[in-house]
Amino acid sequence: MLEITNLYKSYVEAGQSRVILNNLSITLEQGHSLSIQGSSGSGKSTLLHLIAGLDKPDSGSITITGNNRPTLNIHDLEERQADNYRKTIIGIIFQRFNLIDCINVIDNISLPAKLNKPENKQIDNAYISNLIAVLGLSTLQKKMPTELSGGEQQRVAIARALSHKPAMVLADEPTGNLDNATSNTVSDLLYSTCKSLNTSLIVVTHSPSVANMADNKVYLRNGKLEVIS
Ligand SMILES: Nc1ncnc2c1ncn2[C@@H]1O[C@H](COP(=O)(O)OP(=O)(O)O)[C@@H](O)[C@H]1O
Ligand SMILES: [Mg+2]
Repeated sequence: MLEITNLYKSYVEAGQSRVILNNLSITLEQGHSLSIQGSSGSGKSTLLHLIAGLDKPDSGSITITGNNRPTLNIHDLEERQADNYRKTIIGIIFQRFNLIDCINVIDNISLPAKLNKPENKQIDNAYISNLIAVLGLSTLQKKMPTELSGGEQQRVAIARALSHKPAMVLADEPTGNLDNATSNTVSDLLYSTCKSLNTSLIVVTHSPSVANMADNKVYLRNGKLEVIS
């Protein structure tokens, strides 16, 4: 379970402090999905960065509790522990895919799994093959990212974010650069793959149809999350 409690975040701009997140709280059950909508500049990416431990809040806490893990208080972690948290527990899908251009599709997808491989153990190739099949990437495994369309690159980014079986996926406008039809296919796959893995999913999106697929929907306004029913 993800628990965000009384989160404050401000930035100093031209000597003035500007509050971005203002006493924001929310909980998300393990395996559930949450969509976040909100106007540009409202703080959606800031919130994802805080959850990923890439940035620190002014105050408030973010904790993650798993079945077989102790509760992690993200912003109390030391740097090495925070790196480890990002590497093992979460998967991130960036708006601009951030695929590694000099290695092929299968190597991009397997990278997080390889980085997480316990010593003397093999990565779960059957699981990764299934991920590739489910996301329709079987025939593209040997291609380089630059040879793929935007929709294909985005599906590779989704497979990569899931290859190490993370407990939670953070997706920042994952369908931002896709046409409507591709956007719906890609988001269907993202939601259903996370559901089948009991992986929690947080999707920041401008698309109401992508947002509507989530178990829980919120709108970020004035630094707080308003629940959309
Ligand atoms: N590192 C930073 N330093 C100063 N201001 C920032 C920084 N990151 C984001 N901001 C500001 O915080 C606000 C929220 O940004 P962001 O979280 O990227 O919004 P969104 O993702 O909702 O479009 C914006 O006004 C942005 O300019
Ligand atoms: Mg953003």
